[in-house]
Amino acid sequence: MTRARTLPQCRSSSHATPGETLLPAENEQQAAIPAAGDLARRFAEVRRHSLALAEPLSPEDQCVQSMPDASPVKWHLAHTTWFFETLVLQAGQPGYRPFDERFGFLFNSYYESLGPRHPRPQRGLLTRPAQAEVLRYRAAVDEAVLAFLPQADAALRQAVELGLHHEQQHQELLLTDVKHLLSQNPMQPAYLPAPTAATAPAAAAPLRWLPFEGGIASVGHDAREGFSFDNETPRHEVLLHPFELASRPVSCGEFLAFVRDGGYRDPQWWLSEGWATVQAGSWQAPWGWSALDEAVPKLFTLFGTQPLQLDEPVCHLSLYEAAAYAAWAGARLPTEFEWETAMRRSGVMLQRAEATLHPHPRAAAAADGTDRPHGLHEVWEWTRSAYDPYPGFRPLPGAAAEYNGKFMVGQVVLRGASCATPPGHARLSYRNFFPPAARWQFSGLRLARDIR
Ligand SMILES: [Fe+2]
Repeated sequence: MTRARTLPQCRSSSHATPGETLLPAENEQQAAIPAAGDLARRFAEVRRHSLALAEPLSPEDQCVQSMPDASPVKWHLAHTTWFFETLVLQAGQPGYRPFDERFGFLFNSYYESLGPRHPRPQRGLLTRPAQAEVLRYRAAVDEAVLAFLPQADAALRQAVELGLHHEQQHQELLLTDVKHLLSQNPMQPAYLPAPTAATAPAAAAPLRWLPFEGGIASVGHDAREGFSFDNETPRHEVLLHPFELASRPVSCGEFLAFVRDGGYRDPQWWLSEGWATVQAGSWQAPWGWSALDEAVPKLFTLFGTQPLQLDEPVCHLSLYEAAAYAAWAGARLPTEFEWETAMRRSGVMLQRAEATLHPHPRAAAAADGTDRPHGLHEVWEWTRSAYDPYPGFRPLPGAAAEYNGKFMVGQVVLRGASCATPPGHARLSYRNFFPPAARWQFSGLRLARDIR
């Protein structure tokens, strides 16, 4: 398996080769067909947001690739454009002439059925096309998509919808990839200025255990709730045993206690693969932590290096670290079905508190006087569930089969959303997934335990 095949760059459900119907007939009645006017408005918003995320960065910042798992910002901006050009414009307009015939090779991510592509680890070598040319590419495709939308049929409007959710996924990856890139610079540069005192982190609420009854529960996406990727379907039933879920994610202060208790030096807490990974990488703490011997360690953030805020949710954990902490704390990770059921039964809504970009997790301060889980939309929460197909899942035909089905091995599901997830992109059935050693995403944990 190549690295590219382990990454959720394109998790969307409904790709097809140009000219094909994007969704199989049996799914058409389930998937809402967005209206052209609404699509045009959201298309403009989403496309503009990607440019806004890139705005604080220089052309040099946007060209470099810091590791094979990450992509340059310029590549993200071009790849998401290639997606619309290929899946909408080429598919819907016979005789459409691409902006540049060579871009299909450069900006196809992993679609075998859409032709050969540039090797993923070499994306950072693409000094050409220049940044300005990529922006012209975006503008040309934007104009063409908006002109085409009024005559787009249902399948092509669904392709545009898919492209919007796809671009939102890349917006989060853009931020995490930039964070990793900037962390490699000894100057430890900031992506954004640090927040003012008015937005200083609040204290975390005390952790409480919320009980949930066992029994049969329905999980997965409900078509009435709007768009989903195919990996969230079909909705189906699972059997749960009584369990408790923590009211909020684990904080940096709580995780620091594990570090200072020698957690990274004691194999009893670790999965075998995790312990081997800790040894091989000389891990001593979550990714981005430094000055571990000082009273208050430091943390690399998109605001630059900052003192560790003990009340903030811990992030940049691998599954191995999350599971080791849970074992040390006398608990475990929830399954993805426990997580989803607990949130649904609690009436939780996955919404960001504000539209302003604040790409750093903030303390889970309040539970609004109820027993609801809180501290959501700050860090992705590792579960103990393998990223497997749901019962009845079938890969879609054509290139669509490459979207999710082929990644369903060797990866683990994360639930929730992070501070870098764009507004409106989160939902309770969303299944994020990464290999167990990955830790450059905003990934943390929420504890669970059995009720006996
Ligand atoms: Fe993609």
